[in-house]
This record gives sequence, C-alpha cells and structure tokens, in this order.
Amino acid sequence: MSDHIPTTARSLVDIAASTPQQDLFARVLDQRSRPNPYPLYAALRRQPVSRQADGTWVVSGYDEIAALLHDPRISSDMRNAGQESAPGAEKSFILRDPPSHDRLRGAVMARFTPAVVESLRADVRRITGELLDAAGSQGRIDLVDEVAYPLPVSVICKLLGIPPEDEARFHVWADTLARSLDRDPDMTQEEADQIQHAADALADYLTQFTAERAKNPGGDLISGLLTGGAHTEPLRGDELVVTTRLLLIAGHETTVNLITNGMLTLLRHPDILTRFRREPALVVPMVEELVRYEPSVQFRYRATLDDIDVGGTTIPGGSAVVLLLAAGSRDPHHFDQPEQFIPDRTPNEHFGFGGGIHYCVGAPLARLEAHVVLPELVRRMENPRLAEDPPPYRPTAALRGPRHLWLNVDRIRP
Ligand code: HEM
Repeated sequence: MSDHIPTTARSLVDIAASTPQQDLFARVLDQRSRPNPYPLYAALRRQPVSRQADGTWVVSGYDEIAALLHDPRISSDMRNAGQESAPGAEKSFILRDPPSHDRLRGAVMARFTPAVVESLRADVRRITGELLDAAGSQGRIDLVDEVAYPLPVSVICKLLGIPPEDEARFHVWADTLARSLDRDPDMTQEEADQIQHAADALADYLTQFTAERAKNPGGDLISGLLTGGAHTEPLRGDELVVTTRLLLIAGHETTVNLITNGMLTLLRHPDILTRFRREPALVVPMVEELVRYEPSVQFRYRATLDDIDVGGTTIPGGSAVVLLLAAGSRDPHHFDQPEQFIPDRTPNEHFGFGGGIHYCVGAPLARLEAHVVLPELVRRMENPRLAEDPPPYRPTAALRGPRHLWLNVDRIRP
C-alpha cells in the first residue's frame, strides 16, 4: 500500500510547503487544490489552531476539533459571527443551536430508527441493480451520473414517502440545493437566486404534500414527523418543510461522494480491490476507512459565542471558525500511518460523520447504502479502469467529490 497522490497534483506538496500559514486555507478553497488538499491540511496542522488572513480561525488538529465539537460555546448559527446563512439553508437544525436544534433533531431521530433504515435495504439493492442494468452495454460508464447521483435521492424519496412519479423533480432540487451547504464566497447572485428558487419550489411541493399526509398518514417519515411520538411533539408546518429539505440536502451529495470516492480509492489501490473481491465482508471496516481517508464533508463552519482557549490559543468570541474535519481524520497524533488507506483499520474514530450534538443523523443510512452498493459495483463491473486520474471535481471545497468518474469496463455483468 502506498500513499496515492495523483502525479498532476504532486506540485501541491511543494505549494503547501511554501505557503504562509495564514494563507493556507485560501489555498484549500482554490479549485486547483480539489484533487489533493491533504498536503495543505498537513501544513495547517503544524499550527492546529491558526488565524487566517481573512480573520477566520482554522482548526485542524484531532484533539482541538474534538474539543470544539463538544463545546457549548460553539454555535452552528453563523449569524453569531456576523455572517448570513447560505440561501435556502436558513433555519434547518444543522444550523441551529440548543434548545431548538435538540427538539427538531429529536423528532427526526425518534422516527429515523435502525429498523426504518434496515427496511430500505431491499430498495437500495433494487435501485442499484436497475441503475447498473441501465448503464449496461456501453463499455464506458460515468459512475457519478449513472449510479452514484441518482441512487441517494431515490432512497431519500422512499424514506420520506414521496411518490415515484414526483422523484424526477427531487433530483433537480437536490442538485441545486446541494450548493447551499457550502459557504461559497464566489457564489454569483444568479446562483443564489437559482438556489432560492429551488428551495421555494421544494417548499411549495412539501407544503402541499404534508397537508395531504396530515389527512391521510402513512408509514413514512413525513407522516411520523406530522403525528409526533411518545416523547416528541409533532412538527409544525414550516419546521416540517425545512427539516425535510435538510434531510434531502444533507443526505444527497454526501452519499454520492462516498460511493464515488469509494470506487476511486479502490481503483487506485488494486491490491485492496483484489482482496475486497475475495472478502466482501471487508466492506464494513472499509467504509469507515473511506469516510476517514476521503471524506465527503471536509470541513464545517462554526461561530464562537465566547473567548475559547483551545490548543494553547484563544479564539475570540464572535469569530468564524472552520473545523477542518478531514485534517483531524489524518492527524498523525491520533492515527497510525494516517496517509495510508488501510481497509480494516481498527479502531477508527474519524470525523467523517462529524461529532458532538450535530453528529450525522443519516450515518446509518449512508453506511447501509455504501455496504450494498460497493460490493455490487465490484461484482458487476468487469475489469473497471479509471479513464482519467484525477477526475474532474465539483467546485465545492467543503463537500468534496468528483463531478464525473469515467470508468472503462469490459462489460457490466448481469
Ligand atoms: C456519506 C454520507 C454522509 C456523510 C459523510 C455525512 C456527514 C455529515 C457530517 C460531517 C455532519 C455534521 C455536520 C456538522 O457538524 O455541522 C452531518 C450532519 C447531518 N447529516 Fe449527514 N452525512 C451523510 C449522509 C447523510 C444522510 C444519508 C442523511 C439523511 C438522510 C444525513 C443527514 C444529516 C443531518 C440531518 C445532519 C445534521 C445533524 C445535526 O445538526 O444535528 N446525512 N452529516
């Protein structure tokens, strides 16, 4: 096993070494760093809490990130650092603090149970099979557009109880709204308007849909949120719409990237791919390692509510903070050989699904999807090869993943 750095990105190692500490995060945001931001993260970790030229504080060490994820003086509402919410993302509980965060999250957790997740397994299998059948005979497949992208939206629609005939609209909305998770300083007004338009269209749909469900509840998550439970109150109209929208946004592109980064990593490590073919049960620890090694969510923003001492530095109250989760998950003070992809790494306490009160609600579903899809891709694709390495990446730095992953295959087995 060797640390894989695509040759075209090798110059990033030199760039990271020569960039002043306070400019490193601007480099991370630069699209040219997308194929391999990890040398920049290693450079940032030399000073695990560092103030950047624009005044943002970047936290890149494992212990420092863990401390802040669990600190009640840290807020997920960026208005506390004088910033606006991204368009279309206002009020969802990922951007709220206790107590309203806990109430809304609790309502979802009470209904998004392990049994509900498990009940989706057969659908994940069926949808994966159908997508691979359709990708079929061409000898070349774009894993993103043909499999990884459509799958999670269909699964979330199943979870929410959206009728199959309305799914196509969800694909379009999910695509546009994914951008609202990133605080992109270069976002144009036109893009912001598009996101707001998609958010409004989805809200209109959900308002109508939930009104129908209120009259006619089913076994789906939306009906469950509408009726409440033994320990949770029903969600009110606007909260229900915003919460449902969050599940769609947070559960979509993250899962797309897990599947795509997963295949990319396997194809870059042919010895591990061969072992995985022989040993499909390897998928369980391997998915954890994928989420550590090539995480979909590279960083999250926070605001400090007070002065906070961390890692020997004081971050002043009212500051914008970047929790560089992907850097923490490769911190050599916490992981042996952190730059290596070790499919059966144990223990593996990574930050791929975050930590603390905002720990990913959908982690069990994301794991289930990857556990089903990755073995099926490996089983059905005969002799898959990367058509280009590195692949083209989506622009977002926080939610990092390939825009396309072109593979040459001899055939798709039945
Ligand atoms: C590979 C797939 C996924 C990854 C890597 C991922 C990662 C994350 C991370 C890092 C956070 C923490 C955010 C923060 O601290 O600010 C988070 C939160 C969240 N995730 Fe996921 N996620 C994935 C899939 C899903 C799915 C499938 C769903 C739902 C269907 C989902 C729903 C959520 C929600 C609702 C939150 C907010 C939790 C809170 O604020 O309390 N995620 N996710």
